[in-house]
Amino acid sequence: MAPFAEYEPQNHGVEDSSVAVRHARQQDAVAIVAVDATRQPRPPSHLDWVAAQLARTDAFHVVAQCGDQVVGASAVKFWPSPADTPAGWYVSGITVVPGWRRRRIGDRMLAFELAKVDRLHEPTWSVVNARNGASLDLHARHGFVEVARAATFAGITFEGGTGVLLRRLARAG
Ligand SMILES: CC(C)(COP(=O)(O)OP(=O)(O)OC[C@H]1O[C@@H](n2cnc3c(N)ncnc32)[C@H](O)[C@@H]1OP(=O)(O)O)[C@@H](O)C(=O)NCCC(=O)NCCS
Repeated sequence: MAPFAEYEPQNHGVEDSSVAVRHARQQDAVAIVAVDATRQPRPPSHLDWVAAQLARTDAFHVVAQCGDQVVGASAVKFWPSPADTPAGWYVSGITVVPGWRRRRIGDRMLAFELAKVDRLHEPTWSVVNARNGASLDLHARHGFVEVARAATFAGITFEGGTGVLLRRLARAG
């Protein structure tokens, strides 16, 4: 189990139109736990945590689905200001199940949630491991730019030692 996708900028994906991107509902909690578990092992309590996140009114959740299978999940959530990052809307946990990657699913989920934040006329933030080239390139495609690098952001530490704080300004809709 690898936390990041292999960085392969020489390859390019093709959209899979059999996959639908939609709002996540409370009934998706078990499927979202399964998606999250493809990145790192999760304790049994993760289901309660996901259910609580889905109930938040200051978060937008999205899943990607093909037939009955949920193949990706993401969210954008409001973080009140911790010491070292601004308060605001943060991309959280964007994950596509291995085997479903490079089909524009991450791209479409991110676009879906960014459109929600744009409607609020607020910037969107994200914190990404500096070694996660796939995620950095995905964010760059959507207009995120690097604001800072540090060993920790909001209490998050990074494998390899460095995280990147990214910001995207709201686009007029
Ligand atoms: C990052 C992740 C969500 C991307 O999802 P995806 O559906 O495979 O990505 P897409 O097909 O939508 O790719 C859109 C663009 O992102 C970039 N990208 C995505 N995967 C990439 C990779 N492995 N290598 C290089 N660039 C990549 C490319 O610019 C790509 O456009 P292109 O295919 O035309 O070159 C997925 O790799 C993943 O789940 N990784 C593990 C979890 C993770 O690291 N999440 C991010 C935490 S901050």
